[in-house]
Amino acid sequence: MTNRNEIFRVDGPSTVILGDNLKILKRLPSETFQLIYIDPPFNTGRTQQRQAIRTVRSENGSRIGFKGASYETVKGKITSYDDVFEDYWSFLEPRLEEAWRTLAATGTLYLHLDYREVHYAKVLLDALFGRECFLNEIIWAYDYGARTKNRWPAKHDNILVYVKDPRNYLFCSEEVDREPYMAPSLVTPEKVALGKLPTDVWWHTIVSPTGKEKTGYATQKPEGVLRRIVQASSKKGDWVMDFFGGSGTLGKVANQLERRFVLVDKNPEAFEITQKRLGEGSDELSIRYLVYNPEFYE
Ligand SMILES: C[S@@+](CC[C@H](N)C(=O)[O-])C[C@H]1O[C@@H](n2cnc3c(N)ncnc32)[C@H](O)[C@@H]1O
Repeated sequence: MTNRNEIFRVDGPSTVILGDNLKILKRLPSETFQLIYIDPPFNTGRTQQRQAIRTVRSENGSRIGFKGASYETVKGKITSYDDVFEDYWSFLEPRLEEAWRTLAATGTLYLHLDYREVHYAKVLLDALFGRECFLNEIIWAYDYGARTKNRWPAKHDNILVYVKDPRNYLFCSEEVDREPYMAPSLVTPEKVALGKLPTDVWWHTIVSPTGKEKTGYATQKPEGVLRRIVQASSKKGDWVMDFFGGSGTLGKVANQLERRFVLVDKNPEAFEITQKRLGEGSDELSIRYLVYNPEFYE
């Protein structure tokens, strides 16, 4: 049983939490989640950011894998180019540190961004996690919406993938759903029947505005994209987390694939939609919903 004032127990149920993710992350145990996927909003608002900037990390040097002083230097240079990105990063940085701390020793982080922020974020994450921990940049390509005539229309998102330990991480390539060959006439019928392993470029439709997957949450991501991520970077029974959970896409997929999950979102609408979408779970994989009240839990 989970006590009422415990937000998480490793032998407890999957949990969906309404509240600010930073406070909640700080209450989660270290080295627990095999997979963390996050899709943070870009315009996080400037007001909450400034106080989150921290410069204390390098002194004690106890966090193996973090690059102390060099990270601070890189951050100073990168963020000086772009105020909006500086705000964004100062919001994200303490949350990424918590992601690193709560990742299992063999765990993987997927950070879903778009072309505006990904290049800055790549350089900063290289410094924060260690360049050797960078595994991939996944390009999720789609074909939807208006096409500008002034430049190449941008029709993709970028997902940066970092592992905690490049010498020992989980990657289950054989578990991933295969996809059709682009030129089936060039390979054997056996290969056509089996399909091919996806590469780091994923063609996948957006959530169809009229399809049954649609929850009504504006920033909902497709289950098909999350499914590959969960299949490749976790096993049955593992803990996975999305602390910008939105409509609960990671939870939906995790439940189908028998992983346990923690979702966090501060928006009551996201919490409500997730509850409708996921229900109470099953006997083996039940789901708990809680509203994080700092006074009660701190
Ligand atoms: C881009 S959406 C995520 C969409 C999600 N991947 C899905 O498939 O529905 C980002 C989410 O982050 C949430 N969010 C923003 N700041 C937050 C914070 N400080 N704590 C918790 N959630 C936050 C927003 O409410 C929003 O639902």
